Amino acid sequence: MRILTLETTCDETAAAVVTDRLEVLGAVVASQDPLHQRFGGVVPEIASRAHVERILPVIDETLRRAGVGLGELDAIAVANTPGLAGSLLVGLVAAKTLCVALDVPLIAVNHLQAHIYACKLASGENVFPCVGLIVSGGHSSLYRCPGPLDFELLGGTTDDAAGEAFDKVAAMLGLGYPGGPAIQRAAARGNPSAFPFPRPFLQDRQRLDFSFSGLKTAVRYAIAGPGRPDFSQIRLTPEQTADLAASFQEAVVDCLVGKAFLALELTGERTLCVGGGVAANARLRERLQEEAQAKGVRLHIAPLRLCTDNAVMGAIAVERYRAGRFEPLDLDAEPGLVRNPRAGGAGAARAGEPVPG
Ligand code: KG4
Ligand code: ZN
Repeated sequence: MRILTLETTCDETAAAVVTDRLEVLGAVVASQDPLHQRFGGVVPEIASRAHVERILPVIDETLRRAGVGLGELDAIAVANTPGLAGSLLVGLVAAKTLCVALDVPLIAVNHLQAHIYACKLASGENVFPCVGLIVSGGHSSLYRCPGPLDFELLGGTTDDAAGEAFDKVAAMLGLGYPGGPAIQRAAARGNPSAFPFPRPFLQDRQRLDFSFSGLKTAVRYAIAGPGRPDFSQIRLTPEQTADLAASFQEAVVDCLVGKAFLALELTGERTLCVGGGVAANARLRERLQEEAQAKGVRLHIAPLRLCTDNAVMGAIAVERYRAGRFEPLDLDAEPGLVRNPRAGGAGAARAGEPVPG
């Protein structure tokens, strides 16, 4: 059995062909980073137009790499939630069109569940039940996941996502976009204790939420003081930049690690799965590993190639195929809702999380 999976939730146009044995026959990711670079973040309109231009070549190239013809596909899967509305629609329309043309079923993929499923794909182990930490440009959330298709929100960001904070702080420091890798590089030479940045909610042992907006502001004040500075006019020494980057990164990592292990304690789960673009961060990976070892927790962090957005993690569609969970062709894009698939199919809304990506 072969499924073509499509991913266009944010600014990567991606496709993959996967089998029921979770083999990846072919996969392509077309990044749009160069298009968004000069804006310091993803511009939704540019993203959706770029998806329109790329989706068919990306599908063609994926099938070519997989050595699979259109007529050999058994289903089409597409990430329909959450994400940027215009971006989601491009993948959805492509998927539906293929379903009609090929007379094969449509499968909905929840992008956040797929980020957690990447850990199962990479390890080849059954990682469920687990606590899932998803940290990306659009999300910083903790879930309890009894199984691959079961998903219960434990907590999330009350404002910015971790990746968003990385991108904005990198812009303030003049480090370019995407900010995460740039901050990581600068932080390697810095002192993580140089600036005592805030760790919101970290001491609150009842609450599994994050907040990165105040941290962003604290960095801004540390760079330029209050007011409306013109960051292009601010000159920092390489040492200052490195210390700011390291102190900021350490504050984010403290919050993510602290809450992830608190979630394990509060739920009684013994496995932690971590995915999303920020999970590529070397300091975060190191701290998670140290903590997991100290606490005897089974830790699965998605490998780097499966941290940022891709269609391979859409192999979670195999689970839905096996469960016979197919969607009607009027399936809609759901930009801003975290869904609880137990509520039925692409299902009823569970909790509002008004962040794309
Ligand atoms: O999962 P992703 O590719 O897209 C979304 O769904 O948002 O995540 C992109 C985010 C960006 O904010 C980027 O700065 C961040 O992941 N990121 C990192 C690193 N690599 C990517 N953040 C911290 N450290 C990294 N090494
Ligand atoms: Zn993502």
